[in-house]
Amino acid sequence: MSRTSFVEKLREQVGNELAAHQQYIALAVWFDRQDLPQLARHFYRQSVEERNHGMMIVQYMLDRDLPVEIPGTPPVRNSFSTPVELIKLALDQEKQVTGQIEELFRLARSDGDALGEQFLLWFLAEQVEEVASMTTLMVIAQRAGTNWFDIEDFVAREQIGDGGTDPSAPVAAGGQL
Ligand SMILES: [Fe+2]
Ligand SMILES: [Fe+2]
Repeated sequence: MSRTSFVEKLREQVGNELAAHQQYIALAVWFDRQDLPQLARHFYRQSVEERNHGMMIVQYMLDRDLPVEIPGTPPVRNSFSTPVELIKLALDQEKQVTGQIEELFRLARSDGDALGEQFLLWFLAEQVEEVASMTTLMVIAQRAGTNWFDIEDFVAREQIGDGGTDPSAPVAAGGQL
């Protein structure tokens, strides 16, 4: 198969997902250091999900005999002063990834790549859920103000983003973590 613009962007998306993984680890560690264990747990889990997304794309490229390489990741932000700053960064990142997946879908369609389009459907649905749950967390964090433990209570009670294993998820190279 020739290397189309879709395939090129898909390769880049592996890097985008792994960069999101690295950034979410930094957010989780910040929460951990602030003794906010529920938020830390939530973002450790989100970081693993981003890693899995990257490895799902790797598996897809392996399955279709497309050239795949693992890129390095850009620097991440570690310095913050309030939970709202971290959640805002995460929300912006999820919106950015949504735009990247939408662009990939458009490219698959213009390349006439039906298999590529089908592969992306799960990612589009996943982004709707991730933007929605991060938006909720943002509203809760803003409402909590300086009462950070109110956010902890919410995360503990609502189990946001803890959908468990999704049987419709694409297979990840090496297996999902
Ligand atoms: Fe992702
Ligand atoms: Fe995400």
